[in-house]
Amino acid sequence: MNHINDTGNDVVVDVRDLKINIHLEEGTLTAVRGIDFTIKKGETLGLVGESGCGKSLTSKAILGINDRKCKAEGEVFFTTTTNGTVDLFQLDPRGKEIRGVRGKQISMIFQEPMVAFSPMYTIGNQINECTRLHITKDKKKSKEISLEMMKKVGIANAEKRYDQYPHEFSGGMLQRALIAMALVCKPKLLIADEPTTALDVTIQAQILELMKELQKDIGMAILFITHDLGTVAKMCDRVAVMYLGKIVETAPVEEIYANPQHPYTKGLIGSVHKIGTKKDKLFSIEGTVPLALNLPEGCGFYERCNERIEGLCNVKEPLPESIKDGHILCCHAHRKDKSSEGTKVSTEPIKKETLAKKEAQPAEKAKQANMEPVGTKKAGVQAGVTADIMNPVLETAKKAEGMSGEIGTAYQEGGKNE
Ligand SMILES: Nc1ncnc2c1ncn2[C@@H]1O[C@H](COP(=O)(O)OP(=O)(O)OP(=O)(O)O)[C@@H](O)[C@H]1O
Ligand code: SF4
Ligand SMILES: [Mg+2]
Repeated sequence: MNHINDTGNDVVVDVRDLKINIHLEEGTLTAVRGIDFTIKKGETLGLVGESGCGKSLTSKAILGINDRKCKAEGEVFFTTTTNGTVDLFQLDPRGKEIRGVRGKQISMIFQEPMVAFSPMYTIGNQINECTRLHITKDKKKSKEISLEMMKKVGIANAEKRYDQYPHEFSGGMLQRALIAMALVCKPKLLIADEPTTALDVTIQAQILELMKELQKDIGMAILFITHDLGTVAKMCDRVAVMYLGKIVETAPVEEIYANPQHPYTKGLIGSVHKIGTKKDKLFSIEGTVPLALNLPEGCGFYERCNERIEGLCNVKEPLPESIKDGHILCCHAHRKDKSSEGTKVSTEPIKKETLAKKEAQPAEKAKQANMEPVGTKKAGVQAGVTADIMNPVLETAKKAEGMSGEIGTAYQEGGKNE
């Protein structure tokens, strides 16, 4: 496979050819199919993609905390504070070395906060465990640090909340407690899996601001998983777009909004509502993700793709290619010599009825259908993509940024919890 990772000195994590197979009774599901990415010191990489494409599995694999039935292969090089760069997959999963990394050097905000807390201990106790283990053994000092972080993430009445149990917290509050636990040790790498989805917008802005501040202070690298493209524009330096267990496109954030190349990325960006425009219907990507148990040959997006090339895309899997500085793409449509291999057959995704009839359709007719060349204006407009999409998204993000200081603080001081 093409190796496309950055191996510079300030790389904090370097994931190479990560594959995750899940062994089920029905067979082996290849949920993550060989992905590569790096994150540098002080950098935020956004990981976006449809539900079930493998984002959470990827993030948990870095820490080695997936279910036993999920087997990860590949390499995860992490630059530790004490032992230089190590491949985390080579460490004893229960050993001292990995325990010194988890929680202290790499911490994670889980998508479901409830799974991160034990119902048997108070919230304060659990946050404090991290502080005591990794920062100071001094009980008083440790409690002070934990309480300070609880206040910073907007937990009002933190002293009282400190002694409460997880079931006494609402979902949003628990999410904030989890964020406090993840940030309290000032990790080198923060993995944030949908960190603010359960929170209202004002507290979201406040938490995102806190992450950015901490990032500035300690140069924390962030892997930021989200469905919210507005948050991506606000938080991320680069974006990796995932589809069916593969990273299909990676680029700096401005580039991905202004110049998306993969048809799936175009669809994702086209489905964002633009401020100041009136649209009866937002763009949607037709069809559903194929089952990873029964993977199609060639490109996994073929049946939903409006730029597919029959005879090429359904036969040969596209490999990552660098198309511009920092812009990596996995798609045959970009190939200059595509006319020599296969034929562009349609600008519409394959509909279910068409799929049923496909077998009976003569090859000649299929070739004549919609011969719009790939990458024409029409194809772009169909996907709802215009170069100015970035502006409204960035505008919204900027507004949220402006709000965060005042409203977030007012919330905290007003004693409201959510
Ligand atoms: N423990 C597990 N056992 C069986 N299948 C699993 C397990 N964990 C994940 N999967 C499957 O692996 C695929 C990827 O799951 P993952 O949780 O990584 O998706 P995701 O991209 O995080 O989705 P979402 O955006 O909904 O959180 C899905 O098909 C999911 O059903
Ligand atoms: S053009 Fe081909 S390779 Fe590219 S996304 Fe569509 S089906 Fe996949
Ligand atoms: Mg997930």
